[in-house]
Amino acid sequence: MGKDVIIACDFPSRQEVLAFLNRFAGEERKPFVKIGMELFYAEGPEIVREIKARGHKIFLDLKLHDIPNTVMKAMRVLSGLDVDLCNLHAAGTVAMMKAALEGLTRPDGTRPLLIAVTQLTSTDQQSMEEDLLIREPIEKVVRHYAQKAREAGLDGVVCSPRESAEVKEACGKEFLTVTPGVRFADGDTGDQKRVMTPAQAKEIGSDYIVVGRPITGAADPVAAYRRCLAEFLD
Ligand code: C5P
Repeated sequence: MGKDVIIACDFPSRQEVLAFLNRFAGEERKPFVKIGMELFYAEGPEIVREIKARGHKIFLDLKLHDIPNTVMKAMRVLSGLDVDLCNLHAAGTVAMMKAALEGLTRPDGTRPLLIAVTQLTSTDQQSMEEDLLIREPIEKVVRHYAQKAREAGLDGVVCSPRESAEVKEACGKEFLTVTPGVRFADGDTGDQKRVMTPAQAKEIGSDYIVVGRPITGAADPVAAYRRCLAEFLD
């Protein structure tokens, strides 16, 4: 899979997400879609099948984190959904990440791409130290978790666009970086604190950008999507 813009479809129901995706019916390029916890827990696996059947690639963003055996079995279920990309928390340890890969791999050897969350972008140095008792600088923690994900055999990490270059340096340029926190230069940042434009994300080497509200909340979502593609890919 090449570089792409992934639309975060953070909608509460089937009806709303399908109404949104219907706007893209005439587009030559079917958007790559991210389905998160809200929609998945509301509508269940059927919504994944339905969107996949419409021809979209799917990033299933469920961020698994549990004992290795449980994650392996859950991943086995997800591999049957034929998604393209899924994820887990690197904090679950290398053993958990390896078990996840085992569960995700189908009998014919194929599997969706698997990436790890290092530290959530909502976690800052202070909360990491006080709540998690991790006293290293956050950049070092992100780098270490990315290296552990690579050691476990994963394909990449979710990280802030600002961490992308550092992760590539530590893990190699083939190691995927999937970056949320993207905003247009003239747009609202909302609750995202460390943002980058699609053009900047391209510059620093992100493989996929995850864009939600700048597209889903736009007056013309199709135009906003096209603008993202043009800035990120061209
Ligand atoms: O609307 P917005 O562009 O901020 O959406 C970003 C998407 O990426 C949301 O679905 C959010 O949950 C997700 N995400 C994030 N930061 C992370 C991991 C995921 O913003 N560290």
